[in-house]
Amino acid sequence: MSEKELIESGDMKIGWVRNHMPVLSIIRDNFEREQPLKGHKIAMALHVEAKTAALVETLAIGGAEVAITGCNPLSTQDDVSAALNTRDNIDCYAKYDCCGDEYYEAIDKVLDMKPDITIDDGADLIFKLHTERQDMLPEILGGCEETTTGIHRLKAMEKDGALKMPVIAVNDAMTKFLFDNRYGTGQSSWDGIMRTTNLLVAGKTVVIGGYGWCGKGAAMRASGLGADVVVTEIDPIRALEARMDGHRVMSMTEAAKYGDIFVTTTGNVDVLTRKHFEVMKDGAILANSGHFNVEINLEELTAMAGSINIVRKNIKEYNVAGRRINVLADGRLVNLAAGDGHPAEVMDMSFANQAQCVKYIAENKLEAGVHPVPRDLDIHVAELKLKSLGIEIDELESHQTEYLEGWECGT
Ligand SMILES: NC(=O)c1ccc[n+]([C@@H]2O[C@H](COP(=O)([O-])OP(=O)(O)OC[C@H]3O[C@@H](n4cnc5c(N)ncnc54)[C@H](O)[C@@H]3O)[C@@H](O)[C@H]2O)c1
Repeated sequence: MSEKELIESGDMKIGWVRNHMPVLSIIRDNFEREQPLKGHKIAMALHVEAKTAALVETLAIGGAEVAITGCNPLSTQDDVSAALNTRDNIDCYAKYDCCGDEYYEAIDKVLDMKPDITIDDGADLIFKLHTERQDMLPEILGGCEETTTGIHRLKAMEKDGALKMPVIAVNDAMTKFLFDNRYGTGQSSWDGIMRTTNLLVAGKTVVIGGYGWCGKGAAMRASGLGADVVVTEIDPIRALEARMDGHRVMSMTEAAKYGDIFVTTTGNVDVLTRKHFEVMKDGAILANSGHFNVEINLEELTAMAGSINIVRKNIKEYNVAGRRINVLADGRLVNLAAGDGHPAEVMDMSFANQAQCVKYIAENKLEAGVHPVPRDLDIHVAELKLKSLGIEIDELESHQTEYLEGWECGT
């Protein structure tokens, strides 16, 4: 595609999602009027696709100067990146399929703008700020973190006394993880797997590694598609929950023998390793929806393989002792590396949280550490979403509030 065609394609994608993100649109209109981010510089490392572009535009319209790059080498859409670069006050450095060095060079370029606010998805910007670019830390008012894995990293830094800036855990807003991680990852992971393989899900045994919010969504949608769902867990309560939700639960060592399609959603390392590859069926399909590409141990699979062939776009077939094991999108999050990511209506809430939290950081002085999303902001997102859906809910009457807050009334 020529540059002009890339920009047109990116503009079209952004226009489509903008029309399906009503909550972010309300915030965008308010930002345009009130200019709450005037004078602020925002550095971002997020999946550069259309919904993210709608957030970036919102921040720029609110008065900020924004520089953005990707947070994963395979999730950038080059047309969206090109379109963003045509906007005032926005620089985008993301490129699809960049190598490790290029990825970190782009992170550096984003930080060269000397931001006072950061937005991460996986904490790579913050990590860089705390290692090679520590001189910039005094200027940072705060940051926002989008995903579970990023929060884990930041909490580990906080525990070690290493976190030197305030960060809002946007992932942990109710209007983020209950919807984005569950319904967003649930639907978009299957979209990525189905469009990549063009195979039937009904009648297959699907193994979901991890029954957290992403795993619950992926399992729920697999059931809906007619799969026989097996869940693996390390947490007894979540394992029990999976069983009571109607799924079979077993160890991965056992599940590895039966699975036709494996989807890892743990945020952990080495969920699928040599001992699992050794017993997998011919034709098994492996996909990851967790943040980093560490859940499927591809080094071990590569070492075991007699040959490795690309058999379809985004599918590598590893030949292991006469069996074919197919890995989607090199084990990178399948919904973004082999799809368009979450549906726009879900990202509407996640990014409405991001925009509100950026404004909150600009207007409040926060201490270093991981902070929750203020409850009233979280509820505000839910209220706006309900309104956009035309749904009205009941309000507590005063005697009901008194009853709920009192202790005198019993049997
Ligand atoms: N693909 C996407 O678009 C997307 C969206 C949101 C979050 N994420 C990422 O997905 C991952 C999971 O997020 P979440 O919000 O569901 O987290 P979560 O903490 O709610 O769930 C993770 C689950 O995995 C389980 N687990 C950990 N190690 C395991 C192992 N070895 N075997 C089996 N189970 C194991 C945990 O007990 C937990 O129940 C994170 O990396 C997160 O950043 C991806």
